[in-house]
Amino acid sequence: MRLGINIDHVATLRQARQEKFPDPSDAAKECIAGGADGIVCHLREDRRHIQDYDVKKIKELNARLDLEMAATDEMVRYAIKIKPDMVTLVPEKREEITTEGGLDVVKYSKKLKNVIKKLQDAGIIVSLFIDPVSKQVEESAVLCAKFIEIHTGKYANAKTADKKDLQLKIIGTMVQKARLIGLKINAGHGLDYSNVKQIIKIPGIEELNIGFSVVARSVFVGMKQAVIEMKEAIS
Ligand code: PXP
Repeated sequence: MRLGINIDHVATLRQARQEKFPDPSDAAKECIAGGADGIVCHLREDRRHIQDYDVKKIKELNARLDLEMAATDEMVRYAIKIKPDMVTLVPEKREEITTEGGLDVVKYSKKLKNVIKKLQDAGIIVSLFIDPVSKQVEESAVLCAKFIEIHTGKYANAKTADKKDLQLKIIGTMVQKARLIGLKINAGHGLDYSNVKQIIKIPGIEELNIGFSVVARSVFVGMKQAVIEMKEAIS
């Protein structure tokens, strides 16, 4: 299973003081040194953490780059210019602390069709960040996305063992369904060194995208070691 590391929170720290450091691209280098298979960053419309120049510097590292973004005209133009290896389309609300739910690909199907085509025509692989819900999985295939990323937040936030088990079952079922209809599957959100252990037992997930827990761990052990430990946790 591959590991993509989301380095947004390095930028969050820098922006808290409007400083030049810590530099997310330096963090990305450490992630690669620690064995990360790719770097993920979310360029928000309000540029509240990652900045355009960060994406440019990360891209220059020649590591696999998964750019998370909203399906807006501005972001599509940007992605086509930058050409990340993958774009993960996410919902975006200005006031949210993090991406709180999956993209409603059923509701926004018409707009997404257009966006996905433009990105794919530019040679970019498109992934849709969705909740583990049947109709969202089905619509992702209708929209010809190559990948979906299953939002694991409900599993991560479940407070009891029963509720966690239920969420795991739902994710497992949706992963199988997605595979059957030809989608490739990533997963992420709220995963940490402990709760990831159950997720890796689900067959069919190709990559986990993890951010907060790894950046938080890096405060104590450094970014490279934090990634090494997450690689160990998922192996
Ligand atoms: N995947 C997607 C699509 C996300 O939006 C995020 C959060 O930015 C993550 C993965 C990583 O989530 P976390 O920071 O909780 O590990």
